[in-house]
Amino acid sequence: MKKSLFPSGWYYMADSKTIKKGKIKPFKYFDMDLALGRTSTGKIQLFKAHCPHLGAHIGLGGKFDGEQVVCPFHGWKHTLDKMCDKGLKISSLPVQENWGKVFMWYSNDHRAPDYDVVPLDQLGKGHFTLHTNTLIIKAPLVEICENMPDLDHYVYVHGMKDTKFTKMDIKKNTFEFNFKIDTSATITKDLKSECQNTFYGPGIMWVNLTHVFQMKSSVTLTPIDANTTYMHQQIHIPKLFNPLKLLSLYLPLCFIYKKEMKKDTVLWENKIVGGNKYQLLQESHIFKLRNWINSLVTPP
Ligand code: FES
Ligand SMILES: [Fe+2]
Repeated sequence: MKKSLFPSGWYYMADSKTIKKGKIKPFKYFDMDLALGRTSTGKIQLFKAHCPHLGAHIGLGGKFDGEQVVCPFHGWKHTLDKMCDKGLKISSLPVQENWGKVFMWYSNDHRAPDYDVVPLDQLGKGHFTLHTNTLIIKAPLVEICENMPDLDHYVYVHGMKDTKFTKMDIKKNTFEFNFKIDTSATITKDLKSECQNTFYGPGIMWVNLTHVFQMKSSVTLTPIDANTTYMHQQIHIPKLFNPLKLLSLYLPLCFIYKKEMKKDTVLWENKIVGGNKYQLLQESHIFKLRNWINSLVTPP
């Protein structure tokens, strides 16, 4: 079977607090069975799930004893990245924690990460998370990413009054795209804002909404397989907020976000992948994002 290829980068796996000391949990991302756990001293560890002895899934019943992985089948103990006396080895995979979240590094060619997870703790300073929405979407990662620079769809699908491109900056591992948005048609009167979006690799998008909103949003996308993506979306609002603003703006916004995401999901899950028969001039941003993501897919 042909192996699926995915773009290199850091991808969200789980919230740090769900991975307890001594425990190991199963995950399935990038078409791989994975095991994520925390040693008895608190070090986060990620590795391919199957035991090199007779192939048990270590994420289902395995544990850490000190710094060693204990297999649930015959109880063999493995020190990660070290050959055991039977000549078997479990290699760890790159993993980092930031702002209470665990991220894994993925690269088709198995190269080590050449940058760290973006410091979300700095980006989100002074804010707390008001709302979390998670979805499993039957669509490839790139299709979901392309939603962001698709300016016309904000008006037609999401009922915004107007959008206007302001800035694009593409670097090797980041894609920044800003636009002015007028949400007065969907929320309430006179809500113009700038929507500043940055992808830090294809798996992590950070959004700053300026003007009256003064809020931030994070969206992480992690491929489960070539046609299925796990989305984890959060709204972060200023710690020193005005309670009136919470009731009149932020709480309704959480509801709207969830509702609008459902509209996008129906489109993503049923469209032709990579459709590009006709392209308007203002849609060149979408294709620039598609090319940027493709540039991160390295042959194995
Ligand atoms: S399968 Fe893991 S110790 Fe036997
Ligand atoms: Fe959308």
